[in-house]
This record gives sequence, structure tokens and C-alpha cells, in this order.
Amino acid sequence: MRVVLGVGGGIAAYKACALLRRFAESGHEVTVVPTRAALQFVGETTWAALSGRPVARDVWHDAHEVPHVRLGQQADLVVVAPATADLLAKAAHGLADDLLTNVLLTARCPVLLAPAMHTEMWTHPATVANVALLRDRGVHVLDPVSGRLTGADSGPGRLPEPGDIHTAAMAAVQDRADALAEPTAEMGLRGLRVLVTAGGTREPLDPVRFLGNRSSGKQGYALAQVAAQRGAEVRLVCAHTSLPDPPGVQVQRVETAREMQHAVQAAVAEADVVVMAAAVADFRPAQVAEAKIKKTHHPGQQDEEAQTAEQADDARTLRLVRNPDILAGLVQARGANTSPLLVGFAAETGDEDGDVLHHARAKLDRKGCDLLVANEVGTDLTFGHDESTVHLLRPDTDAVRTVGPATKHATAAAVWDTVREILGTL
Ligand code: C5P
Repeated sequence: MRVVLGVGGGIAAYKACALLRRFAESGHEVTVVPTRAALQFVGETTWAALSGRPVARDVWHDAHEVPHVRLGQQADLVVVAPATADLLAKAAHGLADDLLTNVLLTARCPVLLAPAMHTEMWTHPATVANVALLRDRGVHVLDPVSGRLTGADSGPGRLPEPGDIHTAAMAAVQDRADALAEPTAEMGLRGLRVLVTAGGTREPLDPVRFLGNRSSGKQGYALAQVAAQRGAEVRLVCAHTSLPDPPGVQVQRVETAREMQHAVQAAVAEADVVVMAAAVADFRPAQVAEAKIKKTHHPGQQDEEAQTAEQADDARTLRLVRNPDILAGLVQARGANTSPLLVGFAAETGDEDGDVLHHARAKLDRKGCDLLVANEVGTDLTFGHDESTVHLLRPDTDAVRTVGPATKHATAAAVWDTVREILGTL
């Protein structure tokens, strides 16, 4: 494999030497592309000696070979370690003022960035936005680890260990290979019509406010994408997400749970499988104000005394009503039929009543679907992240298939494998 190892200008550049060794020793052809700042930390001789190849330093060297385009085009993998805040910003915005940023613009292979910087830089809104933009575009961006940074301070910002970066990079390559692989007959979904829901519904309160949730839509998108790659005819009903439409998929955008319900009901007759990956709000505001609710405005419903007390406290009461359960509606409408196959998702947390699996099993029984994909959530787990661990539960067996930690594409692949298996038994 042709690997480009980009090295940014941070103290962690010395750790990239160990990463380079791992790639080189496993037989890969590694070209090191250090930025000018990186060469202040580790010199050209070290990179050349460890890689056994000349170092690609700038766009003006060997100009007849057009290195600013060729290196990126020909690479099978690009890894940048450490990726500084400056490099992340340049990559996010498509700047190309040195060789490494040119490589990032021309590469079409998997790209993995391993950031390392001070905590303040990593948590700055500009860096957070740049990382989100890169991830949405399919770039793998590792989270730095917490620990001692340069000097006396500590916090999130350390470069992950070279072994972990190497593992993540090889997983990114494998994911791409899986995505491009021709499906085998058993894996294939040719001839199947699938309906996937994704994203988080938004329930309006007034023209400018809504009740929403943290769903990024990534898992639903990955399910739609993998199904399309495996030959299925895919329809995606999508509530809020910032992701662009996946190719080869018919997309319908909706906002609220009830809009999603109508879209799903209209499409279900044409579906062999329905996967409800959307985070659907269980409740919506009882009233949607036509004009923006003002600080002084108290919507009706309460007696005068309560209003006065609440005014004094500056409190508000929001009345919510139950949304329809779309999945439960599908189960009910299907009755004794086996089609369409119905797959539900459950974002679960463990508590004193039981662990995630306990709650997931109870939900599977309640919902009555054919497959439940349960993932463990918390503010820091799953939502918006590129990797998650899920458990696949079926009503006819106590066996649980656990997938992960895996990318959302790998999880989607496992879900479709299981769907295929169930369809084979019907
Ligand atoms: O009960 P809970 O919301 O955890 O169930 C999650 C599953 O049910 C998901 O598959 C979700 O898409 C679906 N759901 C639904 N309608 C709702 C709420 C959830 O179809 N109102």
C-alpha cells in the first residue's frame, strides 16, 4: 500500500517516528510529508532514514513530477499525525499553500487525521466546527487523548499512541474496501425495497424555536448507503441532519414526527424492509404559537393565580402531548403478515433497574419488531461520533449479536447481514 504520512508542526511529531516504523515494517511504501514547522521538531534525515525514501518537502521539489497532485492521487492511505489546529482548519476549508495541504485536496483514498494540540485549541469553537466539517465529509478524525501536554498543563489534546493510530488507519482502509466490494450473493440486497428513517425530528414551539435531539443522522445514512451499495432500492425519510444526500438513494426530508409518520405510511406499501433509525420525538408541544413567544407572553391553559406566581418566578410551563409511535403503528398495521420486516433502534442507558441489554429486551417485547438495534448512549457516547457499540436483538432467540466499537458503516453492514439472515428464514 502507498501511504502518505503527513506530519504537522507539534511536539508530538516525535511520536510519528514510531508510527512511521509500524507502517514501514509492515511492508508499506511510506512517503513522509512534513510541514515546515514539523521539520523544526524532527529533521528530514530521521524521516528519510526511517522510511527508506526521500522526504517530500515542498511543491517546488521535483516539479516535473507534479508532486502536489501525484502524491495525493496515488496514495492508498493518508495519515496526518500530529494534525495541528492550523492543519485541521486548512483541511476543512480546502486551503492548499504547502505540499501536505495539496495532498489532502487531491487524495481520494481514506484520510485519517490524528490531532494533537493544547486543550484550549482543541475545544475552541473554530476547531470543533472544523472537525465536524471534516467528519461530515468522510474524513476520519481521531479524538486526542487526555493527559500531560507540553509543559505543566494537562487535559485532552495528546496524540493517541502510535499503535492506536495505526489500528484506526487500517480500519479506515478496510471500511473503504468493504464499501467498494462487490456484494456476494448472500450479502446482496438486490431486488429488495428498503425504507430507512434517519435524523432527529424537530417539534416547533413557535416560528423560531423547536424541541429537538442530538441525533446526527449518521447511522441512518450509513444504513441507506450500505443498502444502496448492496443493490437495494433505497428510500430515506430524513428528519434533521446536516449531512448531504447519500448518492443512489431517494431522499425525502421531513421535520416533525407526524410528517415522518405520513411519509413512512405513504411509502410502506412499497417496502420489503423498514429500518427506523430516526430519533423520533415522543412528545410535541401541545400548542404551536403562530408568532414568536415573547418573554412576557403566557399562553392560556393556566388559572390567573398560577400565572401570577409563575410570572413572579419567571417560570414557564410547557404542555406536551404524545406523538404517534410510528414503529408501533407499522407493527400493528402489519398484523399477522411477515412483510415488511421491521427494524427498530433503541438508544438506551443502564440504570438501577437494569443494564442496556435488559432495557433493550423489554423494548423489543413492547415494540414487537423483528430486530432491535440497541446502542448505549450518554452525552459523550454515540451521538455524532463515528464509532459505536450496538447489540442486535431478535424476538425468537436470547442470543445477542454485539458489534463494535465499529464505524457506523460497519454497524450498518452487520444490520443488513442480520436482515438478510432473517429474510432467509421466512
Ligand atoms: O421507544 P423508543 O423511542 O426508544 O423507540 C425507538 C424506536 O422507535 C426507534 O426505532 C424509533 O425510530 C422508533 N420511534 C417511532 N416513533 C416514535 C418514537 C420512536 O417510530 N414516536
